[in-house]
Amino acid sequence: MTEQPAPENPEGDEPIKQRKNGLYPAVSDELAENMKSGWADTELRDLRPIAQAEETARRRAELSARFPGERLVIPAGNLKTRSNDTEYAFRASTEYAYLTGDQTQDGVLVLEPTADGHDATLYLLPRSNRENGEFWLDGMGELWVGRRHSLSEAERLYGMPCADVRELPAALAKATGPVRVVRGHDAGIEAALTDKVTAERDEELRIFVSEQRLVKDAFEIGELQKAVDSTVRGFEDVVKVLDKAEATSERYIEGTFFLRARVEGNDIGYGSICAAGPHATTLHWVRNDGPVRSGDLLLLDAGVETHTLYTADVTRTLPVNGTYTELQRKIYDAVYEAQEAGIAAVKPGAKFRDFHDAAQRVLAEKLVEWGLVEGPVERVLELGLQRRWTLHGTGHMLGMDVHDCAVARTEAYVDGVLEPGMVLTVEPGLYFQADDLTVPEEYRGIGVRIEDDILVTEDGNRNLSAGLPRTSSDVEAWMAGLKG
Ligand code: GLY
Ligand code: MN
Ligand code: MN
Repeated sequence: MTEQPAPENPEGDEPIKQRKNGLYPAVSDELAENMKSGWADTELRDLRPIAQAEETARRRAELSARFPGERLVIPAGNLKTRSNDTEYAFRASTEYAYLTGDQTQDGVLVLEPTADGHDATLYLLPRSNRENGEFWLDGMGELWVGRRHSLSEAERLYGMPCADVRELPAALAKATGPVRVVRGHDAGIEAALTDKVTAERDEELRIFVSEQRLVKDAFEIGELQKAVDSTVRGFEDVVKVLDKAEATSERYIEGTFFLRARVEGNDIGYGSICAAGPHATTLHWVRNDGPVRSGDLLLLDAGVETHTLYTADVTRTLPVNGTYTELQRKIYDAVYEAQEAGIAAVKPGAKFRDFHDAAQRVLAEKLVEWGLVEGPVERVLELGLQRRWTLHGTGHMLGMDVHDCAVARTEAYVDGVLEPGMVLTVEPGLYFQADDLTVPEEYRGIGVRIEDDILVTEDGNRNLSAGLPRTSSDVEAWMAGLKG
């Protein structure tokens, strides 16, 4: 079954007479006439606004206040071709979904400046034209890709006027006055604005929306909790099938977690890291094609993304056979202690860097204590010598993107101060590469990370992923209970 490329002018009145790739015979006048009629009216007239309609309106109002008098253009993005008429799964841009609650491909939010703010309009592809055959002869016709919301349905859902997105590029090309666009999502929209925008001004828009997302509202916190809860169930699923993974490969783990993500959410929020044995020392091991062996550790770093596009980001490092060896436990417990110190440093008014520093100090102390690096600890920390084995930062903001708010300014994020409503990961690790000749042989090939999703509250923090055990003995008891 092949999908068709879009005809030249699907929105025009010109009848479409034949599928473009010629795999099917031309359409007779009789069939074209026949396909125009006999279809029920399926307009949905009782739609309620989406759950976060009030939040998205408030976010647009904040954006409007920051850029008075300027036209703001925020695209959802387009499908990307995998090959011929096959596309990669679409995921709307975070900025667009955050400001509208919609996730439709090709959608564009435009804030049009007015005397006292902005008027928001959502530009979308309307229902397919049945009169000219588009709905069944165009590859993007609804008969091929599924029913879309009509523009009036979308107005009810998203709480703002909607218009046909096919008219937008020409309108933007003609428009005058200052304009900014969020770049990187929709080349067609950017082309229409090419002589009206500058990279620097556009980046200011992207940065503002990134910083807007630093503090999560109650709706977002609820969604993040849902993402984490599904993720907890996905981790339980994996533990229950470890014997099948042993008989096959890390792929069994990846597939098992993915099933949970697709059944309960939209997707996984990032490529699952299913790293058994020495693969645990590769930070972004997503090939997941290695063996799973009794006696080894499994580092599983995975997160479910909800239907509203909020993702969890959780890591547990599990003994494949249910019991840590003495050395695995020693390393695991050290990482746990570092994570405890990191989590304790997450509170309002603390610097973002504090939890990283607290965790790194514990890990440096352990490495000195084990004789892997020469002390004193202050010297190790000053020179950063522990980083040969700790490798990465101890955490990051979490939200609609796994590495959320990534273009926020340094002073607002990395050099900033924690506030209630921020959600971040605390994820220290120790990684001894298989070819690291500076550590005793028995350490080589062991990697441990523990990662939880932490909400900053008014008086400290709350671990959203507390549904998964963290101490080595609790992990063992949890695995034993699941394996029954
Ligand atoms: N899963 C990627 C990270 O932990 O940052
Ligand atoms: Mn993370
Ligand atoms: Mn992670």
